[in-house]
Amino acid sequence: MKVEIVKEEDVVAARQAARQAVVAYKFSLVDQTRIITAVSELARNILLYAVCGWMEYHEVSGPRGKKGLEFVFQDYGPGIIDIDLAMTPGYSTGNGLGLGLSGARRLMDDFAITSHQGEGTIVRITKWLN
Ligand SMILES: Nc1ncnc2c1ncn2[C@@H]1O[C@H](COP(=O)(O)OP(=O)(O)OP(=O)(O)O)[C@@H](O)[C@H]1O
Ligand SMILES: [Mg+2]
Repeated sequence: MKVEIVKEEDVVAARQAARQAVVAYKFSLVDQTRIITAVSELARNILLYAVCGWMEYHEVSGPRGKKGLEFVFQDYGPGIIDIDLAMTPGYSTGNGLGLGLSGARRLMDDFAITSHQGEGTIVRITKWLN
């Protein structure tokens, strides 16, 4: 499932797609909220800092038959020069609180970010079913 993110309504669409997925996978209500919050933050970042990109998600399997959902956010925006700095709670180049990336990392089980200046950014987040 892939959702293009180029306008405000697409952030809502990404959130709705994530909501359907987490309900279908029977995540706990607490985890559903965590995932949807993280998805909203990362989708909004694409709109704010990269102008356009997309979210894609799929089932992942871990050791011992574990199942989870991975959401991938990819853009061809300006990229992030200093990822450690961008991940620091309170750091924002916009007029946000600077809590989106660090919050998404805290809310999810796995979080990975790769970014290259002038090429774009990829953020991957995973939540495993208990
Ligand atoms: N997809 C992206 N492309 C380029 N820069 C990004 C991207 N996502 C985040 N950033 C940079 O990382 C900084 C921190 O992002 P983060 O989401 O943590 O905070 P914020 O968006 O500034 O504020 P908040 O999310 O709390 O409203 C941003 O201010 C921006 O400079
Ligand atoms: Mg943000």
